[in-house]
Amino acid sequence: MLSALAMLMLLWLQTLFLGKPWAQTLGCDEYLGKVMDRCGVCGGDNTACRLVSGQFKHSLTKVGYHKIVEIPEGATKINITEMVKSRNYLALRSRSGRSIINGNWAIDRPGRYEGVGTMFTYRRPNEISSTAGESFVAEGPTNEILDVFMIYQQPNPDIHYEFILPLDNSRGPQLPTDGGAGGNAVNGQGVTDRYDGYSGSNQGSQGGYPSLVPDNQLPQPQPPRWQREYNWKLTGTTDCSATCGKGSRYSVFNCVHRVTHAHVSETLCDRATKPSPQEEPCNTEPCPAFWDIGEWSECSRTCGLGMQHRQVLCRQLYANRTLNVHTSRCRHLERPETASTCQLKICSEWQIRSEWSPCSVPCGVGQKRRDVHCLSNVGDVVADEECNMNLRPNDVENCDMGPCAKSWFFTEWGSRCSAECGMGLRTRGVLCLTNHISSLPLEGCGSERPPETQVCNNGPCDSRIEWYTGPWSQCSADCGRGTQQRLVACLMSSVDGFTVMPQYECSSLDKPLGQQSCEIKACGTKWYHTDWSSCSKTCEGGFRIREVRCLSDDLQSTEGCEEHLRPPDKEECNPQPCIPEIDENCRDKYFNCNVVVQARLCVYNYYRNACCASCSRVPHRASGFRGQR
Ligand SMILES: *[C@@H]1O[C@H](CO)[C@@H](O)[C@H](O)[C@H]1NC(C)=O
Ligand SMILES: *[C@@H]1O[C@H](CO)[C@@H](O)[C@H](O)[C@H]1NC(C)=O
Repeated sequence: MLSALAMLMLLWLQTLFLGKPWAQTLGCDEYLGKVMDRCGVCGGDNTACRLVSGQFKHSLTKVGYHKIVEIPEGATKINITEMVKSRNYLALRSRSGRSIINGNWAIDRPGRYEGVGTMFTYRRPNEISSTAGESFVAEGPTNEILDVFMIYQQPNPDIHYEFILPLDNSRGPQLPTDGGAGGNAVNGQGVTDRYDGYSGSNQGSQGGYPSLVPDNQLPQPQPPRWQREYNWKLTGTTDCSATCGKGSRYSVFNCVHRVTHAHVSETLCDRATKPSPQEEPCNTEPCPAFWDIGEWSECSRTCGLGMQHRQVLCRQLYANRTLNVHTSRCRHLERPETASTCQLKICSEWQIRSEWSPCSVPCGVGQKRRDVHCLSNVGDVVADEECNMNLRPNDVENCDMGPCAKSWFFTEWGSRCSAECGMGLRTRGVLCLTNHISSLPLEGCGSERPPETQVCNNGPCDSRIEWYTGPWSQCSADCGRGTQQRLVACLMSSVDGFTVMPQYECSSLDKPLGQQSCEIKACGTKWYHTDWSSCSKTCEGGFRIREVRCLSDDLQSTEGCEEHLRPPDKEECNPQPCIPEIDENCRDKYFNCNVVVQARLCVYNYYRNACCASCSRVPHRASGFRGQR
């Protein structure tokens, strides 16, 4: 609504500046196609005038009216703009004292105000969102000096002013100072005071404005009043300028005949003697207060339900000015709303355009997706930012398909059979692992483990002859080196079992050893001895001897044997008494057989037979001698 208003305003401004006949492209000269220059000279080169512009930046302290700039008579294209919105107000007053905008502490509504020969457009952006300050513009030219004020309430956000002055500025008062651009800006402390003066006590009598009558005219010499044929006569008053709230009326003087008092043409009276019309207030009772309703601000939201606000002031008309008054004075009227809901358009909305996709995994945690778009209120897909991002439905979500199944995993059967022939086994690997493909949510692999072995058969075995060995026997020695044996047999194996074969059947094969040395433990030192010698006698007590040695493991003589275990090396023998053998067949046939023995003739068979008894005793003595040697 408001933007439409702004458009209208802009259009109006365009008309104001471009719509004049001299600005049309047809040409300001109406046939040559010339263009009006900045100074309003048709086909001019902008040299007939000068632009005055500047910025009012003074920092002020006192609340109230402060003069900003003085605009000389003849100014055109006036533009006074507050750079940023503020609580300050611009005000405009003619040098003659007539307030045009925002005089006497009364704040006018934005609009068009006439004064000093031109029309001012006063703008006060009311939109909450707008940061633009107040402004007024006028096309000019002005016919009076114009004073621009600021009603100061908060730090000044800078005021830009500009206007164009004709170069031969002979039509009105010159600038009070050097007249350079911005040079006519004054910090009007004193002026403010003067202006302030109009706002209070003067209102009642003078209407707040000084007399418009010039006081610099010299009175003309005139004849005494009674001599004159025609005279000025007070005949009444003008109508009151206002029906309420203090208007003014002026005394009306007419030229009348001295005698008849008939109204005659004013030319018959001396203009110089005409009494100035006296202004007097009339209808001074205040007008009823009313609600002054400002424009709605822009909607607080560009789409959807928003709020807009407007200013509603209780105002009262008094002395041609609308004054802000306390709201209680408007209580007889219903107070218009200051806030209202608004909706420029329906907001774009989120739309879910597809169902959720299946979960990305068959088990475990995955993601699912769907299409979400922002749709304008006419159904077009628009950028996501057009929609309320806070309300955007999720388009990705996690999905939990439950625990993943476990399955038995196994390899191919191995190609090797454990037996070269006949029945054997082959194997494969079997594992229980998490399965990412199966969708069965099983806890484990189950108890039916697939077999890891399988029977295989490389075909019937041929009969085979081989050496077979039994276990080794015990070692033959308790300590030290011994030997042990095992059985080695030649066997034939066949489907029916084993058959013992003669050894030569295996002779082509390496025969395993049947015996090997062994040693359970080392023996340490030990007594060794030889066999006994022959007994020194055959009867009645002899003796015999042997050699005894102490030997270590490596069979070296040593002293380390225990003495009390030493075996004896000498012992008695043949203790039996010597008894001659009586043999009937062996007797001495001769008396001198002892000679035969002494002559050592027993070696001969003849003497041994003849002296058998004597000769048979000889070996006993003879062996006794040998043992002593
Ligand atoms: C007035 O001056 C202000 C500040 O330079 C500028 O933004 C604005 O457009 C002017 N207005 C006109 C009607 O020239
Ligand atoms: C009051 O305003 C009207 C209309 O703008 C104008 O004609 C009249 O002269 C003003 N009266 C005074 C006292 O300023």
